Amino acid sequence: MDTKLMMETARAMVAPGKGLLAADESAGTCKKRFDTVNVECNEENRRAYREMLFTTPGIPEYVSGVILFDETLRQKTKDGVNFGEYLKKNGIIPGIKVDGGVHDMALHPGEKVSEGLDKLAERMKEYFSLGARFAKWRAVITIGEGIPTQACLQANAHALARYSAIGQEASIVPMIEPEVLLDGGHSIERCEEVTEATLRATYAAMAAHNVSFEHLILKTSMVVSGKTNARQAGVDEVAERTLRVLKRTVPAAQPGIVFLSGGQSDVSATAHLNAMAASKGLPWPLTFSYSRALQNPALNAWKGQSANVAAAQRAFHHRAQMNGLAAQGKWRADLERQAA
Ligand code: 13P
Repeated sequence: MDTKLMMETARAMVAPGKGLLAADESAGTCKKRFDTVNVECNEENRRAYREMLFTTPGIPEYVSGVILFDETLRQKTKDGVNFGEYLKKNGIIPGIKVDGGVHDMALHPGEKVSEGLDKLAERMKEYFSLGARFAKWRAVITIGEGIPTQACLQANAHALARYSAIGQEASIVPMIEPEVLLDGGHSIERCEEVTEATLRATYAAMAAHNVSFEHLILKTSMVVSGKTNARQAGVDEVAERTLRVLKRTVPAAQPGIVFLSGGQSDVSATAHLNAMAASKGLPWPLTFSYSRALQNPALNAWKGQSANVAAAQRAFHHRAQMNGLAAQGKWRADLERQAA
């Protein structure tokens, strides 16, 4: 277990002005995204799309690391360079999604648990040899009538802790992602309560499994109003409630916290990060680890056509730059308008 390497990896992931690109969509999720632009979701199109993102000029200035799906870690650029090597050569840390996806939790209607612990130690060793230096595991918590249950919170926290311990033994930094879904009609107060309970259960499990907080990154959802709730909280309220929960639950020893976008609009995800990162005296750096909020404009510009690559790269560069500023609390809405 190389603790020095993990410390360097974790710090580099949250370096000032940089954040992460989540490009670890499974083939199924990728199909959903490609369907919106009428692109066939085959292996070559997935490869070409990822190559468009990774080779965007100037991107290493804002992107510290990329979360890859297993298939992508084994694919190459059209010039025959392994994607992991290509990213590393450009100063970007390759990471890997290691959970096996979310599944219905038995005897718990409406709740999910993530699978993928079987043979994980062997997979982690292979991923390290392929160049991955951090690994993500996503757990999904749904808010609804009578849910989440304690059993669901505990089952997901336990899996997150088991995978984290296995990752650290392999010198791979765990990026733990307990995502509280924004789907539903719940209030922001309820989201705050559930996010706090989720993180409390998660960190209690981490401690019980001897996971080192110094070599761990949290990827969390923000505290927001349920998607269909009549009262949609503003930027300052989201920032205040999210920071309150994080201060109550996340150890100060942890090197950083990153956010998922979870279905927020591109600009909202940037504005929320900006408001939080602007706040003084936090024990950890905050940054982005977005998939949709970084990729959507690029995907819409790309549409599977090589002739659109330059336009798609411009769109991706713009979102990466805006979020790089937001991670330092230096973003302003008029910067979006100037670019438009
Ligand atoms: P979104 O930013 O689209 O929520 O995706 C982040 C992620 O990694 C989901 O697992």
